[in-house]
Amino acid sequence: MSDKSHRGTIFVEDAKVLEIRHYPGEQFIMRVAAPKCAAKAMPGSFVHIRCDDTLPMRRPLSIMRANPTEGWIEMLYKIVGGGLRSLSHKKPGDMTNLVGPIGQPFIPSHQRPYTLLLGGGVGIPPMIFLAEHLKDDSRDWQPMAFMGSEIPFPFAAQNSVLPCSWAPTDVTAANPLLEEWKIPSRLATLSGFAGCFNGYVTDLARLWLQNQPTKVIRQVEIFACGPTPMLRAAAALAKEFDVACQVSLEEFMACAVGGCAGCAVEVMTEQGPAMKRVCVDGPVFEATSVFG
Ligand SMILES: Cc1cc2nc3c(=O)[nH]c(=O)nc-3n(C[C@H](O)[C@H](O)[C@H](O)COP(=O)(O)OP(=O)(O)OC[C@H]3O[C@@H](n4cnc5c(N)ncnc54)[C@H](O)[C@@H]3O)c2cc1C
Ligand code: FES
Repeated sequence: MSDKSHRGTIFVEDAKVLEIRHYPGEQFIMRVAAPKCAAKAMPGSFVHIRCDDTLPMRRPLSIMRANPTEGWIEMLYKIVGGGLRSLSHKKPGDMTNLVGPIGQPFIPSHQRPYTLLLGGGVGIPPMIFLAEHLKDDSRDWQPMAFMGSEIPFPFAAQNSVLPCSWAPTDVTAANPLLEEWKIPSRLATLSGFAGCFNGYVTDLARLWLQNQPTKVIRQVEIFACGPTPMLRAAAALAKEFDVACQVSLEEFMACAVGGCAGCAVEVMTEQGPAMKRVCVDGPVFEATSVFG
């Protein structure tokens, strides 16, 4: 670890695969035993995982769930190239190795308990982590989650029984985990999936915001993870409604622990523009610092 500030919080662990579930669109949810990582992970944290012993480069994956008591973490990934394809061939009992938890997490403000979680595609995992974190927190959070995908969702969508009076009556599809946790959620797509909102996840968020009274709007904070155009739209929406917004960025990573600067992006700080490393200074940033 080249960055001293992360000593004792980022671990290198051999991790046994406990479970791997396959979903349409070459999407996978993998659970691995990684007790040190599970103990320190926060919503927005990611791991740098070895996909195959023959591949020199690890791949960064967000942590979707972490169970410190049972010592496991879960990741959701979609195959893009050779690394994640190799990872998808693993079976329960196989070993991998990961570095984590890495990165600055989402930090919700107690002054803004109406947390609006927006996840697009493989940006969904940190939103599930954040939802579970808020559920387990004793404070009175009021989370609402919207998830978008143009390929089938990596879970069996459920017809929500949680009231959403503002939503069109045919928009009923929800994430089953959030439904179990009593956190309202709705799904958005342009692909015509049953029960989903026809549009982008940020269009659905706009509809929700338009239906909130001013006193609620003043206490809203948006958290977003997904493709860059979605993050840009989330930042613009936050500006339009004058609400706070944190976004999680993706960059190609070599070391993922702050040593190579290969993941640096320009962000606006109080001192002016500065280069920040997405791996350890992010991946979560204030939306205004990235998108203006
Ligand atoms: C913080 C963070 C969290 C992430 N979380 C998730 C997640 O939860 N789930 C998920 O599915 N994905 C996630 N990603 C994205 C994922 O890590 C990448 O898409 C990864 O490269 C896919 O690996 P692959 O082996 O499938 O494809 P790769 O073999 O990596 O190929 C993907 C494409 O990117 C190009 N490429 C790869 N590395 C570089 C590089 N260093 N420079 C330039 N081009 C390059 C390749 O040529 C190819 O076209 C995350 C990324 C970051 C940074
Ligand atoms: S990937 Fe090396 S500094 Fe971020």
